[in-house]
Amino acid sequence: MVATGRTSPSVMSEARYEQLVQAVVDYAIYMLDPSGHVVSWNAGAERIKGYRADEVIGRHFSLFFTAQDCADGRPQRLLQQALDQGGAQDEGWRVRKDGTQFWALAALDVIRDGQGQVIGLAKVTRDITDRRESALQLDAMRAQLFQAQKLEALGQLTGGLAHDFNNLLTIILSSARLALNSQDPARIRRLLEHVLDAGQRGTQLTWQLLSFARHRQLSVTRLAPAEVIVATCGLLEHALPRDIELQQQVADNLPMIEVDAGQLQMVLLNLMFNARDAIEGAGCIRLVVECVELAGQEEGLQGRFVCFEVHDDGQGIDPQVLPRIFEPFFTTKAFGKGTGLGLSQAYGFARQSLGAIGVTSQPGVGTCMSLYLPACADPLATEE
Ligand SMILES: Nc1ncnc2c1ncn2[C@@H]1O[C@H](COP(=O)(O)OP(=O)(O)O)[C@@H](O)[C@H]1O
Ligand SMILES: [Mg+2]
Repeated sequence: MVATGRTSPSVMSEARYEQLVQAVVDYAIYMLDPSGHVVSWNAGAERIKGYRADEVIGRHFSLFFTAQDCADGRPQRLLQQALDQGGAQDEGWRVRKDGTQFWALAALDVIRDGQGQVIGLAKVTRDITDRRESALQLDAMRAQLFQAQKLEALGQLTGGLAHDFNNLLTIILSSARLALNSQDPARIRRLLEHVLDAGQRGTQLTWQLLSFARHRQLSVTRLAPAEVIVATCGLLEHALPRDIELQQQVADNLPMIEVDAGQLQMVLLNLMFNARDAIEGAGCIRLVVECVELAGQEEGLQGRFVCFEVHDDGQGIDPQVLPRIFEPFFTTKAFGKGTGLGLSQAYGFARQSLGAIGVTSQPGVGTCMSLYLPACADPLATEE
């Protein structure tokens, strides 16, 4: 005898399939007819959008879009794109039954029957408001961290800058006084030239400081490495003790790079502050900038890069400590001297710019930090 009470396999799987779709509550899964009217509705759709099946079946799916999107013809455009290309994806605000909005990630796929006729569209929507908000928060945190680091760097610079400003003012005041009391036209002229020269150096100093302080939004632009070096070293000179020498070795005709100028300047300052901190007494910091061709030596990078190397002849890094230096908040400096954020910021910047940062160090001999940033592909894009 044939067993009864069993459905045929295909009916069975259809029922199972329906059960499966109904059980999904994290995704709204529903079908549209080719004109965009809702024909099925799962538990996830009810949970995410707030409508019961009997309230939406038969209605047009533009119901879920904002008034602005409807006015712009967005639902229709999506439908048409799906029908033309077999599928469409969209990310944007959607409206729940109670009028509140959520940020949706939606996919629309065409369903065809055995003959290839379009019988409808499957729509899968996810509420990714939380994900979007955490991404926005992360951006805000990054911007805040950048701001905090900048203040820290400015703090390191201002002491030295104030001192240098005082020196310039002293030159200006004493030269002016001497000129006032002098009868010799040649001498007066020489003194006035000193005044002008000191005034110009002061202007340049404030300009460099302000242009560093003004970088607010992170924005990627095409820039010449040598210009960033001039601006950075111009500032750094004031933060170095007299017995630390700063040498520069910047190659000619470096290719342009595409990064955020403020961040690059801050990373370079941080590397050089670290070099300064590693030197006890007299020493030398050497900045070498050159174009290199990489074939996987540095974190698998391939192609042309501008390499910024900061060498110092300081105390070096203990091999036990070396693997940790890029960790956020890792510092070997006394409380109030270091935050442990400089290198983690440098690392983040390098990765974000599709480059890398590497380190070689020998205790008692010195350290070299190398920052690699991709050269612009355009062969004509070399600086003057
Ligand atoms: N040039 C260097 N020479 C010696 N040690 C270094 C050098 N650069 C970084 N370090 C080590 O890496 C640690 C982390 O550096 P960083 O992230 O800039 O934080 P911070 O400078 O605030 O300590 C430093 O505390 C130091 O121990
Ligand atoms: Mg540091």
